[in-house]
Amino acid sequence: MAGLGRGCLIAFEGLDGLGKSTQLERLRDWLLARGYAVTAVREPGGTALGESIRTLLLTAEAEPTPMAEALLFAAARAELLARVVRPRLTAGDIVLMDRYLESSVAYQGYGAEVGPDAVMALNQIATGGLLPSLTLLFSGRGFAERPKDRIEERPPAFRDRVREGYARLADEFPHIQIVEADRPPEDVAAHIRRIVEPYLEPKGEARG
Ligand code: TYD
Repeated sequence: MAGLGRGCLIAFEGLDGLGKSTQLERLRDWLLARGYAVTAVREPGGTALGESIRTLLLTAEAEPTPMAEALLFAAARAELLARVVRPRLTAGDIVLMDRYLESSVAYQGYGAEVGPDAVMALNQIATGGLLPSLTLLFSGRGFAERPKDRIEERPPAFRDRVREGYARLADEFPHIQIVEADRPPEDVAAHIRRIVEPYLEPKGEARG
């Protein structure tokens, strides 16, 4: 985090349908109520170009090749980082990201079999090597029955590879912490607050 002011980047990760987005909103509201400056963004998206890439990726009729897909996610990420995430971190915000580069490693690297090292390498370039201070990896069986995007419609074997990819990332990177999501949302939210608390500046000193 050198040179990035006092900001703190927290990513929410995991398979679809585990309540990530809802929990991100809850954490954002809790942090705001405690007086922290918070920016929340989703991937892909969060910029004009990023939202266009999102539409392209999630609804395109023609399936892109796995490498083209990985590059498009990385392009949306580079745009979001340059235009929103880095400036807000420099300003000292807590930036909450609904997905980040771990999604690309898990979905494109493992799921679509581009290979984790290749996907990590191109994301190193896209992000300038910025890793989150903390990634909350949601784990569980999932519950949400809802319309699926093009990537969620892929077969169970794809999901299994994604799940395995996330597990390997969690073994490899100490900034990734597992959140057991098959519990009442209130319990999940309380668990997340306990994980996040050590990463926060004490309020008295934060904005004295
Ligand atoms: P998202 O909007 O987070 O979907 P959900 O709310 O259903 O979790 O993400 C959209 C889809 O894009 C999701 O299926 C995961 C996929 N995805 C990738 O395959 N690679 C990536 O790098 C990202 C950010 C998302």
